[in-house]
Amino acid sequence: MEPMRFLVTEVESSNRVRGVLVSGKVNRNDSVVAAPSGQQTSILSIKDYNKPDSSVEAKSKLDIELTYSVKLSPGDFITAADLRTEFADQFEAEIKWLGHNNLLPGRTYSFKAIGGNREATISRLKYRIDSKSNQQIAAKILATNDKGIVNIALTHPIIYDSTSICTPTATFTLCEKDTENTIATGTIRHGLRRASNIHWQALDVDKQSRAAIKQQSPRIIWLTGLSGSGKSTIANLIEKKLIAKGRHSYLLDGDNIRHGLNKDLGFTEADRVENIRRVAETAKLMLDAGLIVIASFISPFRAERAMARALFKEQEFIEVFIDASLKVCEQRDPKGLYKKARAGEIENFTGIDSPYEKPLRPEVLINTLELTVEQAADLIIDFADC
Ligand code: ADX
Repeated sequence: MEPMRFLVTEVESSNRVRGVLVSGKVNRNDSVVAAPSGQQTSILSIKDYNKPDSSVEAKSKLDIELTYSVKLSPGDFITAADLRTEFADQFEAEIKWLGHNNLLPGRTYSFKAIGGNREATISRLKYRIDSKSNQQIAAKILATNDKGIVNIALTHPIIYDSTSICTPTATFTLCEKDTENTIATGTIRHGLRRASNIHWQALDVDKQSRAAIKQQSPRIIWLTGLSGSGKSTIANLIEKKLIAKGRHSYLLDGDNIRHGLNKDLGFTEADRVENIRRVAETAKLMLDAGLIVIASFISPFRAERAMARALFKEQEFIEVFIDASLKVCEQRDPKGLYKKARAGEIENFTGIDSPYEKPLRPEVLINTLELTVEQAADLIIDFADC
């Protein structure tokens, strides 16, 4: 028999709540705790609309009256006192991958569970489980219908159980953020407590004071576009103009970062996701230092550009689409890479055998056939108001 888990959906007063019994049984006089507050109380009365009020089984919608008042909000739980729920933002889980595209560690997905909806990243794919032999197999990706063991990190903690304790509160789905299509189902194996030990140090000097000395508003100017579209040239001129205005800036550029911080990464989908994740986190530290950051990366996937955007406040992040068609970029071919890609000497080349997802709503769109580099740089600086 699974332990009692009651999901609170409405709070009438601090000792009267309405909700759903998602597992186990609830009886009058049972000792219970509120989750996540951990406050103890007991069941004074239960009102099920169809049944007598002494004992009720799962799936029922109930009104519960508690003996003592406790702190509860919609989305909280009342649980058996002797077998409590857990609360964490990172855990190990078994998933079945249903997406048409492969699972990519690092990408952000929507996470849906009884304990709440969050944003999630799969921080690590530990291994794949072979469907026939049940063996653990080292893997970098999961393809459709593959099962695997992963670590998942959420934006905020949720109330959950390990699958060995209670199935409904251990079960979740992952959906694509833009389409809401389900791309995986899963169950939580156990929590990873790392997050609760790592606290963000509250520092006395903050972004505002660092920016104030520099007399500027920190920004992320994020240039995206095909290789050869002109990102680096425009980014360079933006920085020159900013420095001439006395601004403090830093240019993060794909070709340079890939020689140092990201020299272990190539151009598979998974590596590009990780490339952009690291770059976005680096840009965030630089913004925190009070700088105007120009990030110039192909950044071909919408999901990762959205992930980068989500790290910043609305006015801080400016997505600029350097729009040049594949045909034009291929004609320019400043580094001779398109020629090599067409000859099959480079794999996974953006626009040739790897996709580029155009921004749908960039803050600035630069049509490189209509604007000079000078005009493009001025337009971007103007928009960024920096
Ligand atoms: S991203 O896709 O992960 O954002 P990034 O901007 O860091 O790419 O690096 C792109 C640069 O790497 C290109 O300008 C090009 O010089 C070089 N490059 C080498 N191989 C590839 C490839 N397969 N696809 C795209 N660019 C490549």
